[in-house]
Amino acid sequence: MIIKACIFDLDGVIVDTAKYHYLAWNRLANELGFEFSIEHNERLKGVSRMTSLDILLEVGGLTYSNAEKVVMAARKNEWYLEYIYKMTPDEILPGVISFLTMLREKGIKISLGSASKNAMLILERVQLQSFFDAVIDGNKALKAKPDPQVFLLAAQELNENPTNCVVFEDAAAGIEAALAAGMKCIGIGSPEILGRADKVVPGFENANIELIKF
Ligand code: G6P
Ligand code: MG
Repeated sequence: MIIKACIFDLDGVIVDTAKYHYLAWNRLANELGFEFSIEHNERLKGVSRMTSLDILLEVGGLTYSNAEKVVMAARKNEWYLEYIYKMTPDEILPGVISFLTMLREKGIKISLGSASKNAMLILERVQLQSFFDAVIDGNKALKAKPDPQVFLLAAQELNENPTNCVVFEDAAAGIEAALAAGMKCIGIGSPEILGRADKVVPGFENANIELIKF
């Protein structure tokens, strides 16, 4: 079958912002009196900001009111933004630009489908906005992956049937969201975590049109 639109997750697919999320979350954990490990950080991939905070507090064995949690999440985001403002196009993952360029040349539509409320800012920092026909981020999609909402909104904005779309994802919840949307999906990372995807590749290096033929 011929794919007409590609929908990309952002964090872990186009750029590696997980390391910045980790630094900011761990700073919050340290203030609260505990250490948040890199292993714990794996659980936050693809997960919304408030759910990430709930996981962090669960790890620390702490309970706070909703009002307190809103303040904590805002502080974490301020620290996270300090890293994001310093991002440059060098941080785009290998092979991404040539893959996006190839898609454009072939007339295949491109959208972002991310849970991040900072997605637009990150695209601007790494100077990739011009590649995207649509950007669906955490401000537009209110239901978190594995709910398919973010990808269905992307297909709608691109004016494409979901069955003509393929999603690129690095998180298991994102793969489930793509499948629930009735789309093809390609896992970026390890087959152990992303085994439910139609295909799994380590990244976009050497990726060509064959990758999106099913
Ligand atoms: C992506 C990341 C998550 C992050 C979420 C919200 O899905 O993989 O780790 O928690 O976006 O990001 P935000 O920038 O809105 O805090
Ligand atoms: Mg991701």
